[in-house]
Amino acid sequence: MNHNNLRRLRRTPQLREIFEETRLNASEWIYPIFVKEGAAEKESINSMPGQFRHSLESLKSLSDEIAEAGVKSVLLFGLPSSKDEAATSSRAENGIVQQAIRQLKKQNPDLVVMTDVCVCAYTPHGHCGVVKGEAIDNDATLPLLAEMAVSHAQSGADIVAPSSMMDGQVAALRCALNRSGLLDTAIMGYSIKYSGPFYGPFRDAADSSPSFGDRSSYQHSSANPRHSMRELKEDIEEGADLVMVKPGLSYLDVIYRARQATDLPLAVYSVSGEYSMIKAAAERGWIDEKAAALETLRAFKRAGADLVITYFAVQACQWIKSQS
Ligand code: PBG
Repeated sequence: MNHNNLRRLRRTPQLREIFEETRLNASEWIYPIFVKEGAAEKESINSMPGQFRHSLESLKSLSDEIAEAGVKSVLLFGLPSSKDEAATSSRAENGIVQQAIRQLKKQNPDLVVMTDVCVCAYTPHGHCGVVKGEAIDNDATLPLLAEMAVSHAQSGADIVAPSSMMDGQVAALRCALNRSGLLDTAIMGYSIKYSGPFYGPFRDAADSSPSFGDRSSYQHSSANPRHSMRELKEDIEEGADLVMVKPGLSYLDVIYRARQATDLPLAVYSVSGEYSMIKAAAERGWIDEKAAALETLRAFKRAGADLVITYFAVQACQWIKSQS
C-alpha cells in the first residue's frame, strides 16, 4: 500500500461538512433589482425568468420577501419614463431610483441599499456616457455621474456604484459626495468590467442597448487582463471603498488576480447572461438549477470574491437555509 488515504476526510456527510473549505453565507450576496417608473404592476422579464421590472407597489412585497429570505443588500437599477441626452431623469429628486431608495429604507432600515450609477438607461442613445458625434465624451460624462450619485446618496443609498467605465468616475463621485457633506456614502467601483455578450438579457430588461456601435471603447477587452489591473489600481487610488470584477464566470482568473492585488473588499457581478444560461438549461431539464447555481457561487468565493452580485440571491438564501 503506497498511497495516502485522502478519502478518509470525505467518508461521511458530517466529515465532509466540517472539512468544508468554502462556505456560502447569505450576507455575501447582493440582489439586483429593476424598478420601473410609472409601472402599475411588476412586469416579468422574458430573457430572465424569475426576475421582474418592479413598480414601487410591487417593490413593497419584494422587500418583505427578500427580508424573509435573509438577503442583506440590494443593487438598484432604474427604468425612467423619459430619456434625454443629459440623462435628466437620473438625478431627479423624485426619480424612480430615488423613490425606491426612500421606500426601501423606510420599510426595511437594515437593508443595505446600493445603486448603479450610469446614464445608459436614461439616454435615448443607450451609451454609458455623453455622445459627441459617434464618440463618447469622457469628461463631459463625469458631472452627470457625480450628480446622479449625490442624488442617490441624498435619498439614502449606502453605496453608489459607477458603472459607466469613464476614466476618473470614482474620483468625480468622491469629490462631489464630499462636497455635499455625504462623507459616509461608500463607492463600489465597477473597476474591471468587460465588454461582451453576457449583458444581453440585462439590456433587454433595462432597455439600455446602445442604438449604434458597442461599448468596447469604454468597457474592457476579454483579451487584456493586464490592462484591467491598471484600471483596478486607478479606482483604488481614486478612493473606491470596494472594487468589482464583472462578469464572473468567464473571469475567475481576473478575480483571483484582483484578490492578490488589493486588500479592499472585492465584489464580483455574476451578470444576467450567467443567470439566464442556467435558467434556460434548467427549464429544459438539462441541468439541476440549484446545484449549478450554488457551484458557481462557490467558484466566485474560491477565486477570492467577498461579495457576489447575483440574480440568484433570493433563491440561494432559501436554498442554504433549507440545507442547514
Ligand atoms: C450599466 C450596466 C450594465 C450592467 C450593469 N450595469 C449593462 C451594460 O453595461 O450594458 C449589466 C448587468 C447584467 O448583465 O446583469 N452600464
